[in-house]
Amino acid sequence: MALIAPSILSADFARMGEEIKEITAVGADWIHIDVMDGHFVPNITLGPPVIKCLRSYTPLTFDVHLMISQPERYIDDFAAAGAQMITVQAEACIHLHRVLEQIRQAGCQAGAVLNPATPPDEVEYVLEYLDMVLVMSVNPGFGGQSFIPAALPKIRRLREMIDSRGLKVKIEVDGGINAKTIGAVAQAGADVFVAGTAIFGAKDYGQAIKELRQQIDKALKGK
Ligand code: DX5
Ligand code: ZN
Repeated sequence: MALIAPSILSADFARMGEEIKEITAVGADWIHIDVMDGHFVPNITLGPPVIKCLRSYTPLTFDVHLMISQPERYIDDFAAAGAQMITVQAEACIHLHRVLEQIRQAGCQAGAVLNPATPPDEVEYVLEYLDMVLVMSVNPGFGGQSFIPAALPKIRRLREMIDSRGLKVKIEVDGGINAKTIGAVAQAGADVFVAGTAIFGAKDYGQAIKELRQQIDKALKGK
């Protein structure tokens, strides 16, 4: 089943608890939380204390996307704050295998994120240690950017790698996802769809989520 994960990067930071409550009520599957450190990416957002405060506003999975250098320093803090899925940028990890094990030891599901220029082979030898691969379809750091089409063959390649080994690793896609781009992403084999602007930029969040689901269904029927 396709999962929709609204990215709170595009929500109102001053009313974040209410925004999360609302998005939960209108059909979000996960809450995607973008953590940026001003070092790995040229932007700064939030950290474990904020996530801890937000935890009581929804029962949904907190999908925490760490765009930070040396993420191994903070895995336990994010797990304690209430993350259920933690994804780390493969480019930020010298010892990716070790960090993935650390995430699972902290009681969370583990994911690796691939920047637009990072090849799918980067995760070939750690696939068994992954619950999810996140394919970035923009350069991380900001919401509202345009979808980079080279993400599509990468998703297809990852789908082959995962399925041919009989694994259950999810593929998530993040960046420039909207009603126009989501169909091709679904057809390429993605399972989890992150959307910031397309949902929080809409007047009616529920309608925006519904439209994304409709486009996924349409694309998969036509396949
Ligand atoms: C970008 C973040 C995304 C961002 C997506 O670095 O990882 O999650 O919020 O925003 P949209 O959906 O607007 O491209
Ligand atoms: Zn993200």
